[in-house]
Amino acid sequence: MAFVNGLICRECGREYPTEPLNVCDFCFGPLEVVYDYATISEVISRERISNGPISIWRYQDLLPSDADDPVDIMAGYTPLIKARGLAKRLGLNNLYIKNDSVNPSFSFKDRVVSVAATKAVEFGFDTLACASTGNLACSVAAHAARAQIDAVVFIPSDLERGKIIGAAIYNPTLVSVKGTYDEVNRLCSEIADNYPWAFVNINMRPYYAEGSKTLGYEVAEQLGWRLPDHVVIPSASGAMFTKIWKGFNEFACLGLLDGVEPMSFGADQNTAHHPAVTTRMHMTQAAGCAPIATAWNTGQTHIQPVRPNSIAKSLAIGNPADGIYALRVIKNSNGSAYAVPEEDIVDGIKLLAETEGIFTETAGGVVMAGLKNLADSGAIKPDELTVVYITGNGLKTQEAVESVVDPLMVKPTMTSFEEALSERQRR
Ligand SMILES: Cc1ncc(COP(=O)(O)O)c(C=O)c1O
Ligand SMILES: [Zn+2]
Repeated sequence: MAFVNGLICRECGREYPTEPLNVCDFCFGPLEVVYDYATISEVISRERISNGPISIWRYQDLLPSDADDPVDIMAGYTPLIKARGLAKRLGLNNLYIKNDSVNPSFSFKDRVVSVAATKAVEFGFDTLACASTGNLACSVAAHAARAQIDAVVFIPSDLERGKIIGAAIYNPTLVSVKGTYDEVNRLCSEIADNYPWAFVNINMRPYYAEGSKTLGYEVAEQLGWRLPDHVVIPSASGAMFTKIWKGFNEFACLGLLDGVEPMSFGADQNTAHHPAVTTRMHMTQAAGCAPIATAWNTGQTHIQPVRPNSIAKSLAIGNPADGIYALRVIKNSNGSAYAVPEEDIVDGIKLLAETEGIFTETAGGVVMAGLKNLADSGAIKPDELTVVYITGNGLKTQEAVESVVDPLMVKPTMTSFEEALSERQRR
C-alpha cells in the first residue's frame, strides 16, 4: 500500500484508513494522507527519481499509490524556462517560468487527476467525476478515457467554449449547472453521498490534492536540487499553493536538496517546516474572486466567502476549501497575497505571450499581473531566484483576448500587401 499509513484529520488528528474518505466524521475537518517517511527516506534518492518516468510518477515514493500501471497520460515534467524578454521587461535577472500549460489536457490539473484516477481504479470505482471550474473537467474526462471508465463532469454553465469543448471531446456525461462553482460543488457533495462515483475533488480529495506536490518537486529538481527564493502562484481553492510548499518541505526533510541536512517531520507531518526552506510563497487571485487574498490583507484568520465576478473563471471559487491552510503557508513562508485588478488580467496574458512566446489562460494573466506587482514594488529583488507558475493554456480562454486579432486585410497582390503594410506602419 505505497508508503501510506492512512488518513488523518487536519483539525482533530483522528486517524482513518486509506479509503475513499475526505472529511472527519467527528469534527468535519479535511482528511490528509499520512506517510511512512522513515521507510521513504531509506529508499528515495535523487538517482532513483532521475531514473524514473518522465511524468509525475517519477515521484511515486511520495504519492499515495504504488500502482505498477497508474492512470497516466504523462502529466508533469513540464518545462522550466529561464525567462529572457519577460525578465528584462520586469527588471529581474533570475526569473523562471514553470510552463504547466503544456500538460496533456492543457492545465496542471492533470497532475492531481492522474493520482485521483489511479486511486479510483484501485478502489474499484467505475465512474470518475468532479465539480469543476473548467480545467478539472477536461482532465477528469481525459483520464477516464485513458482508464476506460465512465466520466461525469459538472461545470457552471457560463464557462468558456474552450473548456466546455475541451472536456466534451472525451465523451463524458457533461452536466452544465445554472449556478456558480460553489453551487456546483454543493450539488456534487450531495450526489457523492448517493452515487458510487469517485469524485476526484470530493471523496478522492486527500489523494487528489497530493498530486500538486509534484509542482514543487519538479521545480526543485529542475533547478538542480535547490529551491527558489520566491514563487508566484494563482489560487482558487488554495490547495495547489499549500501542496507546493509541502513538496518543498518534504524534499528538504528527506535530504534531497543540495547542502540541506535531513530532518524529522515532527508530530504533525503535514505542517512540517524545514528551516532551510526559505522560499517566499506569493499568492495571486483575481480581484473579482479574492477571498484568500482579502483575508490575508485584512489580517483575518478565517475566510469570508464571496460571490465570484471575474474573467478568471478557472479561479472562481468563492468559498475556498484550503483557504485557511493557505493563509498559514503565507505566514510561515513570509509570503504575500495580491488581488489582481480585473483590468490587469488580459495585460498579463499579453505580457507573457509577447515576451516569452507562451500563451496562457486568464489564471496565467492573474499570476503575471501579480509577478509584475511584486517586481515593481521591490518585494522581489532583481537577483533573487523567482519561479512563476503558469498553470493553464490560453487556447481555452480565447474569448478574453479576442481583441488582439487585427490582421492586415489584403488582396492576393503585391500592391495590396505593400499598401496595407505602409498603412499599418504609419499607425
Ligand atoms: C489554471 C488553474 N490554475 C490554478 C488553479 C487553482 O488551483 P487550486 O484550486 O488548487 O488553488 C486552477 C483551479 O481550478 C486552475 O484551473
Ligand atoms: Zn476531526
